[in-house]
Amino acid sequence: MRPHYSLHSIIALFIIAMTSSLLTADEPDEAVEDQAEQTESDKRYSYRERHDPNGIGKFYLGREIAHVMGHQGIRWLERPEREEEERLSLLIKGLKIEPGMTVADIGAGSGVISVLLAKAVGPKGTVLAVDIQQEMLDALQDKCKLLNVNNVEGVLGTTKSPRLVEGTVDLVVMVDVYHEFDFPYEMLNEIAKSLKKGGRVAFVEYRLEDPEVPIKLVHKMTEAQVKKEALAKGHGLKFVENFGKLPRQHVVIFEKL
Ligand SMILES: C[S@@+](CC[C@H](N)C(=O)[O-])C[C@H]1O[C@@H](n2cnc3c(N)ncnc32)[C@H](O)[C@@H]1O
Repeated sequence: MRPHYSLHSIIALFIIAMTSSLLTADEPDEAVEDQAEQTESDKRYSYRERHDPNGIGKFYLGREIAHVMGHQGIRWLERPEREEEERLSLLIKGLKIEPGMTVADIGAGSGVISVLLAKAVGPKGTVLAVDIQQEMLDALQDKCKLLNVNNVEGVLGTTKSPRLVEGTVDLVVMVDVYHEFDFPYEMLNEIAKSLKKGGRVAFVEYRLEDPEVPIKLVHKMTEAQVKKEALAKGHGLKFVENFGKLPRQHVVIFEKL
């Protein structure tokens, strides 16, 4: 006996066939994109077995990436002599912060810099304090509570993204952080995306050019290396200045085009 198909069942079969072909067509495309992204990332970085013990053996544009400072280092970040050694108050003045700004403190740690930024942006401004360690964000929250600081928001980022909203930030500050990024290219790309047009990003890094600065080598950077990485293709940043007034650190500032 020949099967009998009604018009309705033929239409239903047609719709099911179309939908499933669309669904299966999507899957390989996504896989191909993921693979392409992975390959790009592999090309960007190189790895060496013999390397500085304070580094992770992964290199970007000739620089070895440093180990991330664990939350066990909070006491060092909070040391009372830090103001005298690093003149953080001078750094905040040099950043030309205006009241009401949205400033992101990326790699905020226990919040030493975040609370200084919070004061500079005033009650109408916001500080987005980003870190990849929840323990750091917990310590930061305790500090803000203790000091009655209400305009700092903690953000748990990932090693590839600070998870900020695109085009919303006036200024990104990274104090003693960038050299630790496991994926510096990806992080900086996301950071640049988070900036408003004309927004700025400041790299505060111990000066590698100066042997007197008492910090391990992979935790220092030259101004030339900072520029090489920040001006790499794809970030859409232009060099503004190196604020040369701190005793130990560069403050290299770029603007979003
Ligand atoms: C040396 S501490 C500096 C903390 C703070 N900026 C200060 O000067 O007091 C570096 C911080 O960067 C954080 N960090 C490292 N990689 C990160 C990433 N990809 N995104 C956000 N934070 C990161 C670490 O967890 C650590 O808290």
